[in-house]
Amino acid sequence: MNNRPLLVTCGLPYTNGPCHLGHLRTYVPADFFVRFMRRKGEEVVFICGSDNHGTPIVVSAEKEGTTPRLLSERYHNHFAETFKKMHVEFDHFGMTDDPTTHNRAKHLVSRLIERGYVYPKIINQAYCTKCEKFLPDRYLEGICPHCKKPARGDECDQGCGKHLEPGEILEPTCKICGNRAEYREQEHFFFRLSGFKNWLKDYLGDLKGTDNAINYALGWVNEDLHDWCITRTLEWGVKFPGHEDLVVYVWVDAPIGYIAFTEEWAALNGKDWKRYWCGENTRVSHFIGQDITYHHCIFWPAMLHGAGYGIPHAVIASGMLKIDDHKFSKSRGYVVWTNEDYLDLGLSADYLRYYMLTYTSHTKEMNFSWQLFQERVNNEIVNNLGNFIYRTLHLSQKQFGGVPDGEVEDEIVERISETLGMVTNLMENYDFKGAVDCILSLSAWGNTYIQNKEPWKLAKTDPSAMAQVMCNCLHLAKALTLLIEPVMPEKASQIWSQFGQKDNICKISFEQGLTKLPPGSLPEPSIVFTKIDDKMTTEFDGRLRERIDALDAQKKPVTPQISIEEFAKVEIKTGKILSVEVVPKSSKLLKLQVSIGDENRQIVSGIAQFYTPQDLVGKDVVVCTNLKPAKIFGIESNGMILAAGDEASLLVPATPVSPGTKIR
Ligand code: MF3
Ligand code: ZN
Repeated sequence: MNNRPLLVTCGLPYTNGPCHLGHLRTYVPADFFVRFMRRKGEEVVFICGSDNHGTPIVVSAEKEGTTPRLLSERYHNHFAETFKKMHVEFDHFGMTDDPTTHNRAKHLVSRLIERGYVYPKIINQAYCTKCEKFLPDRYLEGICPHCKKPARGDECDQGCGKHLEPGEILEPTCKICGNRAEYREQEHFFFRLSGFKNWLKDYLGDLKGTDNAINYALGWVNEDLHDWCITRTLEWGVKFPGHEDLVVYVWVDAPIGYIAFTEEWAALNGKDWKRYWCGENTRVSHFIGQDITYHHCIFWPAMLHGAGYGIPHAVIASGMLKIDDHKFSKSRGYVVWTNEDYLDLGLSADYLRYYMLTYTSHTKEMNFSWQLFQERVNNEIVNNLGNFIYRTLHLSQKQFGGVPDGEVEDEIVERISETLGMVTNLMENYDFKGAVDCILSLSAWGNTYIQNKEPWKLAKTDPSAMAQVMCNCLHLAKALTLLIEPVMPEKASQIWSQFGQKDNICKISFEQGLTKLPPGSLPEPSIVFTKIDDKMTTEFDGRLRERIDALDAQKKPVTPQISIEEFAKVEIKTGKILSVEVVPKSSKLLKLQVSIGDENRQIVSGIAQFYTPQDLVGKDVVVCTNLKPAKIFGIESNGMILAAGDEASLLVPATPVSPGTKIR
């Protein structure tokens, strides 16, 4: 056994955009886990912060005409407030641009240098001659060398998802001005990741957490592991030791933020951060989105091990989020903003927490839609859990003014302890959906129990039998409140006071809380869980649709309409191709002589890739005959042959017509 406290972290949000449901998919389960483990009696520290460095933040700040620091502070505060509103309560929420991370990163990187894990190498760096700067990461766009999809400088975001090293991207283009970038030689520093291959295999073999993270990482390690370029030509970031013109890559200092924030928390609370991060058997557990598995399961443990720090114990990766069965996309409108689209509408943070935890298992793809949300809330929270708790409190109040005299039967106590055992086991295996479903089954069991016993009928016939049933139900309802608090802290705390409890429910362990209520009066109960009605769902869904449609409309180029008079200005006639010559030194052009009835025209046409002269001679075609003559490749062209699409499918009359027939 290990007497260390648990340290739970969540992936750090970048400070260049607001919080959306995609973020919450990591934070809500982590908070659920922390609250549950604390109730079990574990000592847990819950650490997060904002990720302030990297090119996208510099680019966003430039666009807004502000500094990366000010932009970061603004979004940092935004995230801190939003997490509080979602009842995601970190013990500390730091900033990677604060001095603690700068210092810790310099220390860790210097250690890697001292130990010979870092070496310089001249590489090709994309450079924009127009903007006169090197283009790290997101300053650059191009084509992924692996899957040939459009990609960002450091990541194939639309295709295979691979991490791209500087110099790898094809067709590098400057994101600021759109010019094709050139590669220039520059000295950068590399981390000898390849040397960690065997160590990583062993490490990943023991790593705890979710299979999606561990198996992906093992796959990558077995494939091949390249050394990793850890410096960038940028002003904004943590300076690379000994080279003021370079900063470390954001993925170096960001996870080091986890350590630095623990230091900040420890300093404020009189604790020792080394207890969490140094030596063998640490209990560091990282909650992350599946898309950053590579960084957490490969780069990060290798860096920690190389520098002589303790290594993480578990990586828990959440699956991705879809909106209305569409890939999450801010630019296409498939996004739900946590504040604007949810909290600001007065919706309950707890309902969203419940939905996120139970929609599907943590590692699978989650879908959010307003209809599904409504169904889940109404059928599961309100009709099952809410119904049992309110019925119990209401009947007890009506008949006994609170808790009647009597004992709780063993069957009830056993049910609760059996559920707690199962839930604990599921939580230890990071099966959050399984855990919440298990709690809800206990509540469903309670509903069946009360339904079968019909205590309302016993009020007149057998009041002491009714007292027995209500004792049981009250005990069960109180246990359910404690069990559900990590999922829905705000609602649970309201119910907790309806049981006459004065202490903050957060502070109550299972051991303290699973005790029998003493007989006596209880406050008047009220309904805590209310339904989402159809009108609300339609309204919220309508907002989402409007946004999607508006963005869609922006994307389609609108062709202005023209009048019949305007159309009549274009003269189009049938023609017959009389002869064809290739244009020397051009692979695309052909020179055609075309009869348009009373006159012959010379026309230069860019169709040489698709037709040979033999294909064309004698063909009937359609010609625009009043186009101003132009010189193409020095050859006069007087008219235009009409053709459809990228492969120039020639338009031809469906039935024979003589050359010069007007098209109307
Ligand atoms: N900011 C990163 C992202 O949103 C996550 C950083 S997590 C850390 O993808 F490990 F680097 F801290
Ligand atoms: Zn790719």
